[in-house]
Amino acid sequence: MAVGILPCIVLKAIILESYENRAVDVQTARLQNQCKILSDQIGAGGYADAQMPETLLVELTHLADVYNGRILLVNGQYEITEDTFDLDTGKILVSENVMQCFEGKETKIYDAKQRYIEVTCPVYAPDGSRVAGVLLTSIPADFVLESLDALNHIAWVAVGVIALLVATLAAALGPVMVRPFARITSSIEAVNEGYDANYLHENAYTETTLISEAFNKMLGRLKTLDDSRQEFVANVSHELKTPITSMKVLADSLLGQEDVPVGLYREFMGDLSEEIEREDKIINDLLSLVKMDKTASALDVKQTNINELVERILKRLQPIAAAANVEVVFESFRPVNAEVDEVKLSLAISNLVENAVKYNTKGGWIHVSLNADHKYFYIEVADSGIGIPQEAQEHIFERFYRVDKSHSREIGGTGLGLSIARSAVVLHRGAIKVYSQPGEGTTFTVRIPLSYVVG
Ligand SMILES: Nc1ncnc2c1ncn2[C@@H]1O[C@H](COP(=O)(O)OP(=O)(O)O)[C@@H](O)[C@H]1O
Ligand SMILES: [Mg+2]
Repeated sequence: MAVGILPCIVLKAIILESYENRAVDVQTARLQNQCKILSDQIGAGGYADAQMPETLLVELTHLADVYNGRILLVNGQYEITEDTFDLDTGKILVSENVMQCFEGKETKIYDAKQRYIEVTCPVYAPDGSRVAGVLLTSIPADFVLESLDALNHIAWVAVGVIALLVATLAAALGPVMVRPFARITSSIEAVNEGYDANYLHENAYTETTLISEAFNKMLGRLKTLDDSRQEFVANVSHELKTPITSMKVLADSLLGQEDVPVGLYREFMGDLSEEIEREDKIINDLLSLVKMDKTASALDVKQTNINELVERILKRLQPIAAAANVEVVFESFRPVNAEVDEVKLSLAISNLVENAVKYNTKGGWIHVSLNADHKYFYIEVADSGIGIPQEAQEHIFERFYRVDKSHSREIGGTGLGLSIARSAVVLHRGAIKVYSQPGEGTTFTVRIPLSYVVG
């Protein structure tokens, strides 16, 4: 609305102003012409030496009357010799425009505030050799004001009409024009309220196309997130239920038999205890994973001696390795200090080394190395184990993914270890990679920045 009317008002001001200038110009030119004719006549009569003829005086007065103005005649001594108002005859008049006129220049002045026009005309000596006097005419410019008032009135009416038109147009077109935006808004609200929103195709304007595309990207991401969350919940329920189902079967079969031999009791109880341990492990891994899923602000970053950290982890895992008859070697190329979250990084490295033990062969080896350059430190965990098939390598970091369910089951595990490891590394803005050859062994490499960068 205002957008439509403001330009009108500005335009009106411009038109009125230019009209005023033009009207003044026309009037001034006309006046100058008449003054020139008169001054020529006065000059021809020998103004400087002779008394003004009566006829010329009458003409002077007449011209002044026509314009409702005042005419002064000034001689070479700046003395006013004629004044149609008869007020200042005999007085001296030295003003800038009179002086200029004595140099032969006609002048004109429009005083917009006082609203009068003043022109000067030189009166030449009969031989035209010099300026003998100056004819100074000033007339009121009220006529401009009157026309302006009339114009102003018309202009306001025009602005009013345009405003009305704009208002009607806005009322009629407005809803049509904002309709795409309304649809976008309702789609966004649908997402907000948790309804199943559809992809948008609002291509009415460039803006709506852009918004639609951005919205579709966001919706796609939301749907992917939602799917993976549902899959995760389904997997978790399944993984948590498996040991419980086993426990239930074991307990029921014991309860269903009478006079169970003590040996069988012990065996079943042993199985029960294993299932409980497995359930405990899954819950612990899930808790670790949930902690990793939090934002990076959850990182408790401290300057840490990485050599000592790795040594501590290997020392803790040494008994498991020894039980599996696997030899562990640690090779450190240089002392490394870095800003890391000790607990989370330990979890990642422990998982890699545990895997290297679990998926190793009897009498195999594990080679852990630590190195650094000016920006990153690198931890490598290599083993001589069973390896990972090429097609499985891209999945092993997924939650609950295990290469060989039946084989892995007897080895024991949740399928969450690598997922935890990767989350921990990513939280440190690092990268984790796997290289493996089935039957020969596997190498995991971890690269983490020496100093933690926020953001
Ligand atoms: N060093 C390794 N050698 C061979 N296979 C491995 C190794 N590390 C991981 N894997 C495979 O990747 C799968 C996922 O590992 P992980 O997430 O740690 O789960 P989990 O160890 O609980 O099974 C494992 O089940 C295993 O099949
Ligand atoms: Mg594991």
